[in-house]
Amino acid sequence: DLVPPAGVDNEFAQPLRDPAARAVEELVSAAAADGVTLRIISAYRDAATQAALYTNYVARDGQAAADTYSARPGHSEHQTGLAVDFDDYGNCYLSTCFGETAAGSWVRERAHEFGFILRYPLGSEEITGFMYEPWHFRFIGVEIAGEMHERGIANLEDYFGLAAAPGYD
Ligand code: DAL
Ligand code: ZN
Repeated sequence: DLVPPAGVDNEFAQPLRDPAARAVEELVSAAAADGVTLRIISAYRDAATQAALYTNYVARDGQAAADTYSARPGHSEHQTGLAVDFDDYGNCYLSTCFGETAAGSWVRERAHEFGFILRYPLGSEEITGFMYEPWHFRFIGVEIAGEMHERGIANLEDYFGLAAAPGYD
C-alpha cells in the first residue's frame, strides 16, 4: 500500500505505506499551521536503494563508521515504508544540528500526536545501535507513540523490552 503523501514536498518522491503517508500529511500540515516548514527527504527505500547508499557510505567512511548511521541492506526501517526523514530546507540537512532548529524541535515534540517517534534519540545510541538522527521518524501509530510519550520511554527497544543493538551475525 505504498503511496506518495499528498501535498508534501518530497525530494526523491519516495512513497510511504498508506497509514504513514496519511499521518505525514497531517503532521506537515499541522506544522505549517504553526509556521514551521517540513519536507520529506527520504521515505520508502527499496533494497537496491539501501544497498547503494550503504555501499557509498562504507567507501567514504569505512564500515565501522557507516554502521553507526546507515543500516545494512535488509535492515533499514526505510525498507518497511514506515520511516521518514525530514528537513526544513535549511543548513542542517541530515545533520545533528537539525534537532536544534525550529522544525527539528517541533517535529520531535509533536510527532507522537501523529503516530511517529524519533527513532534514534540522543542518549539512546548504545540501545538503538545508531547515532542521534533528529531527522528520522518511525510510524508506530498514535496509541503506542502516545503511550511512549506519556511514560517517557525514549526508544522502541525499551518499550518492547528488546536487547540493545544486536549485531548483524
Ligand atoms: N539511517 C538509518 C539508520 C537507516 O539507514 O535506516
Ligand atoms: Zn532515516
